[in-house]
Amino acid sequence: MRKRMIAGNWKMNKTYGEGIVLAQGLADELSGGTGDVDVVVCPPTVDLKGVSEVIAQASAPFALGAQNVYWEESGAYTGETAPDMLEAVGATHCIIGHSERRGYFGETDEDVNKKTRALMAHGIVPISCCGEPLEVREAGTHVAYVVDQIKRDTEGLEVDDPSAYVIAYEPIWAIGTGKTATADDAQEVCGAIRQTLVEVFGAEAADGIRILYGGSAKPGNVAGFLEKQDVDGALVGGASLAADSFAAMVKAAM
Ligand code: G3P
Repeated sequence: MRKRMIAGNWKMNKTYGEGIVLAQGLADELSGGTGDVDVVVCPPTVDLKGVSEVIAQASAPFALGAQNVYWEESGAYTGETAPDMLEAVGATHCIIGHSERRGYFGETDEDVNKKTRALMAHGIVPISCCGEPLEVREAGTHVAYVVDQIKRDTEGLEVDDPSAYVIAYEPIWAIGTGKTATADDAQEVCGAIRQTLVEVFGAEAADGIRILYGGSAKPGNVAGFLEKQDVDGALVGGASLAADSFAAMVKAAM
C-alpha cells in the first residue's frame, strides 16, 4: 500500500528567518505526529539549512525538500545548485519540472529526465511535476499531453525503489488560481499516469510510485482528492504558507 504524501511548495516566499518561523509553527502543529503520512516542506534555497535544523529538533517527522536542482555535480553553472549540495543541507526530496520552471525558465522534459537521474544517484526523492495548460484542457487532449510528458520524463529510467520516486500532477490552470480540478478530473489523469507507469516500469513498480495532485489544494478540498484510487497525496502551494492550513491537510490525510 502506498504511503500518502503531503508536500508543501513554498515557492519564492518566506525569506531567511520567516521560513524558520513557519517550519517551527508546523512542527508545533504536528507535534502529535503525522501517522503514516510522509510530510515534506520545500522552502526557498536560502531557508534550507535553517528549516533542516528545525526539522532535526521537531518531534513530528517531516522532511526537507528543495524546489530545484541541476544535474551536474559541480562547475561553471552560475546560480545553480548541485545534488550533493542539497544533501549537505539535509534535503531528502526535490521538486523538479514544476510548470513555473518550465514556463518561466524553459525547463524541458529532457531536463527533468536528467535531474531525475541525478537526484536518484544521490538518494534524493524526485517530486516530478507534470500537467497541462488551459488550452490543452479545453481542447480535451489533456490526458495525451500528460502521458507524453511522463513518457519523456521517464525515458530510460530504472526505479529501484518505487517509494523514492514521486510524480505530481498539477494542471497549470489550477495553480494559484483558486480554480481546482475536480477529484474526478484528478483521477482521470492520475489513472492515466499510473497506466503509463505500468507500461514503463511494470505493474509492481508502478503500484509503488506515489502520484500527488497539486493546484489550489486546500484543507477544504484535499479529502476529496485523497479518496481517489490513484491520488496519493497533494503538492500544496499557497496553503503551505500557513502552518495551520498545511497541518490541517496533513491531518486530513492521516
Ligand atoms: O507546486 C504546488 C503548486 O504549484 C500549487 O500551488 O497555490 O495552487 O496550491 P497552489
